[in-house]
Amino acid sequence: MINSLRGMNDILSDDYERFTYFINTATTIAQRYGFHFIETPLLEETALFKRGVGESSDIVGKEMYQFEDKGGNDVCLRPEGTAGVVRAFIQKKLDKAGGTHRFFYHGAMFRYERPQKGRLRQFHQFGVESFGVDNVYEDASMIMMVHDILKACGIGHRLQLNSLGCSICMPLYRKKLIGFVAKVEDKVCQDCVRRLETNPIRVLDCKNNTCQTLYADAPKLISNLCSECEDDFSKLKTILDQNNIEYEIDTNLVRGLDYYSKTAFEFVSDNIGSQSAIAGGGRYDRLVEFLDGKATPAVGFAMGIERLMELIVMPEKTRTGYYIGAMDEEALSLIVQITHKKRVTDKVSFDYKAKNLQKHLKAADKVNAKFCAIIGSNELKDAKIWVKDLENKTESTIKLEEF
Ligand code: HAM
Repeated sequence: MINSLRGMNDILSDDYERFTYFINTATTIAQRYGFHFIETPLLEETALFKRGVGESSDIVGKEMYQFEDKGGNDVCLRPEGTAGVVRAFIQKKLDKAGGTHRFFYHGAMFRYERPQKGRLRQFHQFGVESFGVDNVYEDASMIMMVHDILKACGIGHRLQLNSLGCSICMPLYRKKLIGFVAKVEDKVCQDCVRRLETNPIRVLDCKNNTCQTLYADAPKLISNLCSECEDDFSKLKTILDQNNIEYEIDTNLVRGLDYYSKTAFEFVSDNIGSQSAIAGGGRYDRLVEFLDGKATPAVGFAMGIERLMELIVMPEKTRTGYYIGAMDEEALSLIVQITHKKRVTDKVSFDYKAKNLQKHLKAADKVNAKFCAIIGSNELKDAKIWVKDLENKTESTIKLEEF
């Protein structure tokens, strides 16, 4: 028997209902915020992610599904959605056109991680990217959108917030941090020694307990922001306060992708185990220019659909549509015709086998139909159909033409 690959799941039955319910809810809300759908390829040039997400990140350094295609191109399955959307934005010359461009997307992402609960190798994200607005109100609006989506799905959460500074204050802070870590370098883990070379601020979210204890007194990013970043950060907090959105400041929140500056945020759930991040995002004002476009401010987020599916409170199921059945073989071809017509406006299930009434009623109940409509030999003779409303428990026999 051939099974699916490790960390790659099928989505069907109940899971599929949750999956589509989430996508539909998130789509409706993203559209209310003025975002438009974008679809980018699953496969991109590896260089896009190396330059976009950053070679020092685990995602690019260790987790990419990278290979040479038959034409000798170095390609990989997308590990995240932002870099592809930025590429499309530049390729379509929207950077040169100026103005504001807002996109949402959903689809599969691939990371060769060690699979565990909540951590897959193929998983799905719902994400949004906004280009052209350098106002912190847009950052707040991203956070409010995630908040609205989670609320609509009945998902409790905590919001963690940080500012990663800009090209003025970040390099100065980085120097300070390197100076601090250098003093304890002989005691920190090998990963942190490597991070000091590649991307020093990533030491802050090291999961090693010894490192965390050593960094307890490390200089904090938000105490080292330039006046502009500091202003933006306090404005953001004020907007969130005014809109009753609770947050925690997490000075160690640096995000696993290298493109962020200023606002960084993560939504976490305490109900799904150790892989608790359900959404993450922030501002990435330098990425468009970094990928050879015209400098354009940008901000966005992505939500992990599989993690959210565990938490979604589904609305109560209501009975919909028809179940149509025959009690005699002769009525089957008529049933097919009726079903075909009825499906123009309604959801219809039907069985290709003639059965007794009890069996049909049971089947109608199983598919959650509102009406069970049956043709037996009497109905066939009189060109009528027996219909039971399974919600109100009423029944009647009506002419086929009225049905
Ligand atoms: P990210 O934090 O890497 O951000 O991923 C966003 C969400 O995807 C996570 O919060 C998590 O729920 C889900 N996720 C990530 N990895 C896995 C996995 N292996 N298995 C299951 N779920 C996972 C990004 O990808 C950025 N592109 C977000 C962004 C958009 N920033 C700006 N715009």
